[in-house]
Amino acid sequence: MNIIEMKDIHKDYPLGNTLVHALRGVDFSVKKGDFLSIIGPSGSGKTTLLNIIGCIDLPTKGSYKIAGEEISDMKDVQMTNIRLYKVGFIFQTFNLIPVLNVLENVEFPLLLMKEKKVSAAEIKKQAEKLIDEVGLTEQIKHRPAELSGGQRQRVAIARALVTKPDIVLADEPTANLDSETGASILTLMKDLNRIEKTTFIFSTHDPDVLKYASHIVKIRDGMIIDE
Ligand SMILES: Nc1ncnc2c1ncn2[C@@H]1O[C@H](COP(=O)(O)OP(=O)(O)O)[C@@H](O)[C@H]1O
Ligand SMILES: [Mg+2]
Repeated sequence: MNIIEMKDIHKDYPLGNTLVHALRGVDFSVKKGDFLSIIGPSGSGKTTLLNIIGCIDLPTKGSYKIAGEEISDMKDVQMTNIRLYKVGFIFQTFNLIPVLNVLENVEFPLLLMKEKKVSAAEIKKQAEKLIDEVGLTEQIKHRPAELSGGQRQRVAIARALVTKPDIVLADEPTANLDSETGASILTLMKDLNRIEKTTFIFSTHDPDVLKYASHIVKIRDGMIIDE
């Protein structure tokens, strides 16, 4: 089953009096449980594509179905619920909350899920489980400034997975890490993909990273070239 299905997706950004054509007719599908890499040079449209997949941004034109539901038919609240319940995000620059420690950063998305009446004790338990899985139990009281880059990205992975999303989106997750740390982050993502059956979609401009992917999609100038 395709969890993501895009047909002829276009995205234009206004820039002064002109339009930037960031995506120009993308056809793209992802199967449940996949570990898919989107590779392309800087400016090719990777972030734009991931933002549309994660319902952070809307396409200018085209059809996008997530878990069988057409985005253009959705109300704002449904898109918010997709961002909150269906998708987890991992960013190139980690985007942790500096004043919160590791435990509090990982608990944060669970606290946003108001509809789910989960007790504080249960939230703590779920966060601690993920922190253990990414190997940071000893650093649980540390704030982001007291962690290395690789450790910060592990916190971001725990935070993305704590809500048990169907899909995890990672935008160049290893770009700010040295190659050894990057390899350990990808191995961790791959293990979680295998154990939790979570679908992972990650972008990269680094060909070294491709050996981890089960599928590879190449993007150039806003178009997908040979899949
Ligand atoms: N908010 C924006 N406004 C105008 N142009 C943008 C905006 N975001 C991205 N672009 C342009 O769209 C193209 C694709 O950008 P992006 O998706 O960020 O590529 P990548 O992530 O592969 O580096 C680039 O030409 C970029 O300059
Ligand atoms: Mg980008």
